[in-house]
Amino acid sequence: MKQQLEAIRAIALDAILGTEQAEELESLRVKYLGKKGELTAVLKQMGKLSPEERPVIGQLANEVRSKLEQSIEQRAQELQAKALERKLRAETVDVTIPGSVQKIGKKHPMYQVLDEIKDIFVGMGFEILEDREVELAEYNFTKLNVEEGHPAREWSDTFYFTEDSSILLRTQTSPMQIHAMESRSLPIRILAPGRVYRKDEVDATHSPMFHQIEGMAIDKGITMADLKGTLNEVVRQLYGAHTVTRFRPHHFPFTEPSCEMDIQCHKCLGKGCPTCKGEGWIEVLGAGMIHPKVLEGCGIDSAVYSGWAFGMGLERMALGHFKISDLRLIFENDVRFLEQF
Ligand code: DAH
Repeated sequence: MKQQLEAIRAIALDAILGTEQAEELESLRVKYLGKKGELTAVLKQMGKLSPEERPVIGQLANEVRSKLEQSIEQRAQELQAKALERKLRAETVDVTIPGSVQKIGKKHPMYQVLDEIKDIFVGMGFEILEDREVELAEYNFTKLNVEEGHPAREWSDTFYFTEDSSILLRTQTSPMQIHAMESRSLPIRILAPGRVYRKDEVDATHSPMFHQIEGMAIDKGITMADLKGTLNEVVRQLYGAHTVTRFRPHHFPFTEPSCEMDIQCHKCLGKGCPTCKGEGWIEVLGAGMIHPKVLEGCGIDSAVYSGWAFGMGLERMALGHFKISDLRLIFENDVRFLEQF
């Protein structure tokens, strides 16, 4: 019996030390110490022992029981500690790993330029007007002194909605001049940016949709000198104090006299280079003194009031500003391109 008890002790201790799971340990406890356990089974045979042997075996049995209980308790604590350590290791957070940066959107380069231009004009007392893109031919052409039969009215150049050519996608922002004159009291100073549409094939310098900025000032005593002074001030604020401009005579139906404004090429300073296509100058806008017929058509007395107007291509300003060579980049919205600004 003594040998039996010692064998149980040795085997059980071995098994207890070898456990890796709390459940395993529990089943060992049942196996050896439970009511139907091996140790209990041995103790049930105590009755068969002689009175001299009984206390000796009884003491040994108690020793084995408390040794096993102790070992199970100790192993349980070890397993618990191991499990905790495993869990902590799995959940470690390395606070030194660089975070993943969220990409945030940015203003499109063309709208950055537009905002700069708007700010300059607002600083000069101009009001920003943004309005319809679907226009009556009457406003896009007729009231701007573009008569029936004028080539700009051709179906091959203009997107019309109706067979009678009365409704269209505006081909220029100039109809905003008419809307401003009809809806506002004098004097008027407005800046009207927006999309315009023409039947052009897409290439490096053309798109069927592009943006223009219309500017207009009407007051008593306004002259061509005001137009030049204002535009010179604007480009100097935009491109720097040393910007050189030039005004060339031109023709537009809605202005008289009319002109185009060029900026001296910032790359070659007028010598001629690929940026300015050898010209030395870059054309930026059309302008002029508002034709008396246009003023009178809107009920403004051209003997008392005069005004100037201009229209510039916004894409062209952005291309020049950021030295971008192809118009299509402006519209494609390739993130790799947009990220550079
Ligand atoms: N609307 C003209 C165009 O699209 C540009 C223009 C020229 C606007 C002269 C004006 C102006 O206001 O006075 O080509």
